[in-house]
Amino acid sequence: MSTQKVKITFSGSGRQIDLPVIEGTLGPEAIDTRSLSSQGVLTYDPGFLSTASCASNITFIDGDAGLLYYRGYPIEQLAEHSDFLEVAYLLSFGELPTSEQKAAFVEKIGHQTMVHDQMANFFHGFRRDAHPMAVMVGVVGAMSAFYRHSADPFDPAQRESAALRLLAKVPTIAAWSYKYNIGEPFMYPQNRFSYSENFLHMMFATPCEDYQPNPILARALDRIFILHADHEQNASSSTVRVAGSSGANPFACIAAGIACLWGPLHGGANEATLKMLEQIGDASRIGEFIKRAKDKADSFRLMGFGHRVYKNMDPRAAIMRQTCHEVLNELGLNDDPLFNLALELEKIALEDEYFIDKKLYPNVDFYSGIVMRAMGIPNSMFTAIFALARTAGWVAQWKEMIASPEHRIARPRQLYTGATRRDFVTIDRRH
Ligand code: CMC
Repeated sequence: MSTQKVKITFSGSGRQIDLPVIEGTLGPEAIDTRSLSSQGVLTYDPGFLSTASCASNITFIDGDAGLLYYRGYPIEQLAEHSDFLEVAYLLSFGELPTSEQKAAFVEKIGHQTMVHDQMANFFHGFRRDAHPMAVMVGVVGAMSAFYRHSADPFDPAQRESAALRLLAKVPTIAAWSYKYNIGEPFMYPQNRFSYSENFLHMMFATPCEDYQPNPILARALDRIFILHADHEQNASSSTVRVAGSSGANPFACIAAGIACLWGPLHGGANEATLKMLEQIGDASRIGEFIKRAKDKADSFRLMGFGHRVYKNMDPRAAIMRQTCHEVLNELGLNDDPLFNLALELEKIALEDEYFIDKKLYPNVDFYSGIVMRAMGIPNSMFTAIFALARTAGWVAQWKEMIASPEHRIARPRQLYTGATRRDFVTIDRRH
């Protein structure tokens, strides 16, 4: 707590309210407005542009400087030197694991990668052409009916058990939603593989042939997982926190996060970016689409551009751009027309006054779709892979929220703008 105070003065009545100022370890200070409602005043902030909904030790973003830290470690260092399970451990427990802790964690995850065999029946209830995110919302939510001994959020041991199960099983559910879609048999997880290799195996192996994941592609996928693992109080993580604040079942809370992530303004942007590039089709049409993106009367936006917090660059985008080159090199796809179109679009947009003025830069999803497409992952799975990775952040955020001494049910207020009191009119007297 800082010694500073903020004084609000109402210009009409002259009434004054003093509010304390709170400082974090990094980033902007916050005015503590908790006492306002008891004084008959609310803060108004639709879309939470200026609202810190909680205090958190997990992830720090400086949008102007383009910084992203998980538990204090810069994302660039984690992407280069770490792997996804180490990052998931870091997010969950606050410190990088020792080699013994890491081995124990990997083993625990390995023991949980299979899903209850009866869960396979759920998939068969969906249409074959169901979107993988629709299947994931349903099947991850259905985990609440299977793992009832990990369901009490107020019991620390059950919390850890739920967190482990989610990290271990969501990749299996994501891969199976793809296998179901293409009509191939579900592949059981293989614990001899790393986390990302195992995911490639469950996506692309069949029971008929041996499958050996390409290490360069597995590393690139692992990097995608690391870059998407957490992003402080974004829409889906806030959804998980709000859902969890009532003490709801953890699997249902993560399903709520998946539902929120699916939107094209959030995790659905990687799929939408690829669709947009396919729609543009050729560099000669870029001008036409840039014009549409700038037109207020047109709802079209340049997908993969802009961010609520990053206003100069998305540090994840720089890493993903580099990974994109590595993957296309490995696969001999340097001349991939879609990638070249993306580079051309990026160049033109970055020189355009509209995008410069509004500080709209490519975000991580501008490149991650191109990388995944080159790996043979279909567009419809992009957001499912984002969900798989973000599960690490969601469980860390959920655990922090429940264990916090400040935990209360999330219950925002509103500025009411509807009708004032009026008396009921019987139907025969209404016009
Ligand atoms: N193309 C064209 N104009 C844009 C774009 C875009 N991609 N993004 C924002 N603008 C304009 C917007 O029209 C508005 O203009 P004005 O000030 O004249 O009304 C201004 O820029 C500010 O935009 P906003 O929608 O008020 O900003 P926001 O912070 O509410 O939205 C955003 C951020 C990411 C939702 C938005 O930039 C967007 O829709 N981008 C495209 C979707 C996308 O790539 N999303 C992925 C985000 S990164 C992955 C993740 O973390 O989920």
